[in-house]
Amino acid sequence: MPRDGGAIAVTALAAVVVAAASAVVVACARPKPQQQQQRARRTLKELARQNILDLTPYRCARDDYNTGILLDANENSYGATISQSVLELDMASLELNRYPDPYQLSVKQLLAEFRGVKTEQIFVGVGSDEAIDLLIRIFCEPGKDAILTTPPTYGMYKVCAKVNDVAVQTAPLTPEFAVDEAALLRAVTPATKMVFLCSPGNPTAVSVPLDVVRRVHDAFDGIVVVDEAYVDFALAARGGGGETACALVGALERVVVLQTLSKAFGMAAIRVGMAYAHADVVQLMNNVKAPYNVNRLSEEVARTALSNLSLYRQRVAQLLEQRDKLMETLRNEPYVRRVLPSDANFFLVEIEHAHTIYLHMAENGVVVRFRGNELHCTDCLRITVGTAEENAKLLELLRATVKGVQDGTIALRE
Ligand SMILES: Cc1ncc(COP(=O)(O)O)c(C=O)c1O
Repeated sequence: MPRDGGAIAVTALAAVVVAAASAVVVACARPKPQQQQQRARRTLKELARQNILDLTPYRCARDDYNTGILLDANENSYGATISQSVLELDMASLELNRYPDPYQLSVKQLLAEFRGVKTEQIFVGVGSDEAIDLLIRIFCEPGKDAILTTPPTYGMYKVCAKVNDVAVQTAPLTPEFAVDEAALLRAVTPATKMVFLCSPGNPTAVSVPLDVVRRVHDAFDGIVVVDEAYVDFALAARGGGGETACALVGALERVVVLQTLSKAFGMAAIRVGMAYAHADVVQLMNNVKAPYNVNRLSEEVARTALSNLSLYRQRVAQLLEQRDKLMETLRNEPYVRRVLPSDANFFLVEIEHAHTIYLHMAENGVVVRFRGNELHCTDCLRITVGTAEENAKLLELLRATVKGVQDGTIALRE
């Protein structure tokens, strides 16, 4: 190889080597598109909304225990208020291949008659929980507005508010579980869009008089939600007399009343709840809801139950009779500190070592709800009234548990 030619060849080779090396360097420094994508990928934590990451989810009764005698979720232990025949549904006439009626008119016509309102003043949803969420989404601006609740109260108001990035203000009930109207109005700020009143309250079982609702409505220029999930029991206890807050709906534009088929109607499984409100509010709810929110089977079962109310009346009467009997028995038990009054199908009982008693009973087949961590509810168990047999078992296990705690055979637990 000539010298010069060799030098040229070496130089060329070096250039190739340098070029190749720098190509390697460049290739290493600049990631391939796929690698680049991987590196840029965000974690779920980065993707999820901060208020959702911060959320303390609703803890329902069944998250803790779901077997045994279930006296923990304020259901109707006597069962659904429908006759057996509804279970033999005519599948052909149900037309399950078609989407259901988006506005559940057949159910609304029966509800309108039942509660003395117009069909356009009724919203039907997937439980009243759907209505709570919709109302907050409709009326509250995320990151800006607030709802106001009256603790101790139903936990879903707060959870729905937090899901929607809406603040929660509070005006606690008095120790007797009455609405403290002055405190409530003091707690209202320009951000407050809605006030939630629960009547009868959960867990308090105390009703809010309609006069209080009227006064709150008049003094506050936001939406007043009256959650009447248990109102059927309160009405029946007054001999069917008295009014639900539905009586206010025609006159007061900013009142929304929530009711449900989950409690007195004994149909928690079908997930049907109602909101009664001014037609314009119902229109907003219809605009925001999912198109076919209530499924056809639930609609049919609801329609059947509402077509004949005799079983509903009978079951409510049975539950009230059992409630009064059970409360009276408990009042006479030496270990019971207090049995609190009730307008619903459940009540609070104050007992020393309530948490240990609750845990031991649940592990031994009778599940009630420990509410001792709620405001004004220290050492309280919330007991849903069951059938006569269930209540007898509850009493038997409660007595045995208290005895075990007292004689030290059942250890105290946190
Ligand atoms: C006060 C109150 N409101 C609403 C609900 C929810 O009812 P639904 O089953 O209709 O969603 C409950 C359920 O326990 C409740 O206690």
